[in-house]
Amino acid sequence: MAIPQHATPCLLATAAESLALGHLVAFPTETVYGLGADGLNPAAVTKIFRAKGRPVDHPVILHVADLTTAKKLVSHWPEVADRLAHTFWPGPLTLILKRSSAVPDAVTGGQDTVGIRIPSHPVALDLLREFAAIGSGVIAAPSANRFGAISPTRAVDVANSIGDRLGPYDLIVDGGDCAVGVESTIVDLSGDAPRILRPGGVSREAIEQVLTLSNAEELTPRPRVSGALASHYAPRATTQLVATSDFLSAAHQYLSDIPPSRLGCLVISADLLEPLQTLGVHLQAMPADPCVYAHDLYARLNDNDTLGVEVLLIEQPPTGVAWEAVLDRLSRAAYRDR
Ligand code: TXA
Ligand code: MG
Repeated sequence: MAIPQHATPCLLATAAESLALGHLVAFPTETVYGLGADGLNPAAVTKIFRAKGRPVDHPVILHVADLTTAKKLVSHWPEVADRLAHTFWPGPLTLILKRSSAVPDAVTGGQDTVGIRIPSHPVALDLLREFAAIGSGVIAAPSANRFGAISPTRAVDVANSIGDRLGPYDLIVDGGDCAVGVESTIVDLSGDAPRILRPGGVSREAIEQVLTLSNAEELTPRPRVSGALASHYAPRATTQLVATSDFLSAAHQYLSDIPPSRLGCLVISADLLEPLQTLGVHLQAMPADPCVYAHDLYARLNDNDTLGVEVLLIEQPPTGVAWEAVLDRLSRAAYRDR
């Protein structure tokens, strides 16, 4: 069982050495914690898939500290990539580009494209720079959770999700809570026109300030994106999105089958708090701001899993473009057919 360790300069030096030796290092980014390995070492990358229980044909993204390193990983760097990189890197944006021969098949799942980003979390950047000094400086990292489970935004959630699957030389670097809380936005630049494959930390509106997105998103076949599976990001609890007006009656209905200690409720409306409090359920007031909501969401889902909640009712947030990433994750968390 790997235990999170505080991100001191000394630990980061050790972590860079671990990466260079082919071990795994879970580390914080501004979006979620990543489970990292040397991105140019196929044997190390394979360990990520084993630890997560992730199918080997699902590609992982590569993290780098600078543009020069990013460009070595692609066969073509289009002008639009420059614009996006200069506007949003370091930050929560992943670009899908045609890969160069430097990138192993283990990273891309055999596809001819690669996902790349420069994260903005200072611990992630320090680790990347340390690793560039003694190794490839390229860290392959999916989110540091079991395949299909909720992404971790706190080191303790990493330990709970995959701690027992890490080896004796693998590390969990604790850099505090992730500021953004949902994964990076993925923009595919490998086709004829740019398109968003996964909404995330950078809003669609912000991206549209920089480029014109394809409106033919559904016409061309999508690359395999595990975050695009309907049941991804699933809590263990049966999770349901409920309209504000139906919330209390839904809660009462479940309480005829299960005790209040097994029912979790995440609500935004202040009006719902008091009546739910009297029911004795696990109650959490959620922020009305979409960015703060995104920051809190995975932590609250993970908390409910830890508490052993059987049914989790989530008040339907407002619709609208600012809520796109949150609504995407909620609809997947609530997806039932598995
Ligand atoms: O915010 C994030 O992106 C976090 C942090 C750790 O950086 N990482 C993350 O990784 O969410 P992961 O593996 O959980 O999700 C990355 C997504 C997956 O859905 C994967 O399928 C997709 O990126 N992806 C990676 N390479 C790709 C490629 N060449 N083409 C299409 N999709 C790709
Ligand atoms: Mg993931």
